[in-house]
Amino acid sequence: MDTELTIALAKGRILNDTLPLLERAGIKPKDNLSTSRKLIFATNREDVKLVLIRSADVPTYVQYGAADLGVAGKDVLAEHGGEGLYERVDLKIAPCKMMTAGFADRPLPSGRLKVATKYPEITRQFFLQRGRQVELIKLYGSMELAPIVGLADIIVDLVESGNTLKANGLTPLEHIMDISSRLIVNRASLKMKNKPVRDLIDSIEKVVQ
Ligand code: PRP
Repeated sequence: MDTELTIALAKGRILNDTLPLLERAGIKPKDNLSTSRKLIFATNREDVKLVLIRSADVPTYVQYGAADLGVAGKDVLAEHGGEGLYERVDLKIAPCKMMTAGFADRPLPSGRLKVATKYPEITRQFFLQRGRQVELIKLYGSMELAPIVGLADIIVDLVESGNTLKANGLTPLEHIMDISSRLIVNRASLKMKNKPVRDLIDSIEKVVQ
């Protein structure tokens, strides 16, 4: 039996773009990941299986070697910190931007700024670099509501089309970082399963190019 490889994939948006890419790299799941309630999937390759988890959990599975490889957004990776894993390929999937956003016509307070976000680590680092004191308010979604109801002065969130901000009367203010999905690899897997892991990275890299 060949060395087994486990790839962690995120449920949701990224999945629809990841599956065609994997298929072109020669890996096709036996079941439909979007409709099945299963969490582990066999593929056409006996040595490769897929696990389907929440996007924010992908770096954790790869960090601890529960998955050898994974596909995760740069937002999730920056938030995780990258311990125990390598970021190997920019898959150019789901491109968007991490931005601050608020009301265009409302001056920001000169004192401590209240910032609502799902991304406390990225936000903390961004304002630390600028020497700006902020109060972080951790939310799990629908950040756009926070400035409207006075919970925060601004938000830090992903902006793709800009439609969600616009629909809520908000404007993108400052660009923090460009985001896209990345292929990540467990550090130990790259050493211990070097050949199959490298071959897989190479074939995915070729497809992306
Ligand atoms: C993301 C993000 C914004 C929206 C941006 O939310 O948090 O709300 O997409 O996209 P747009 O610029 O094209 O409008 P998502 O749909 O991923 O759900 P979430 O609120 O659970 O993060």
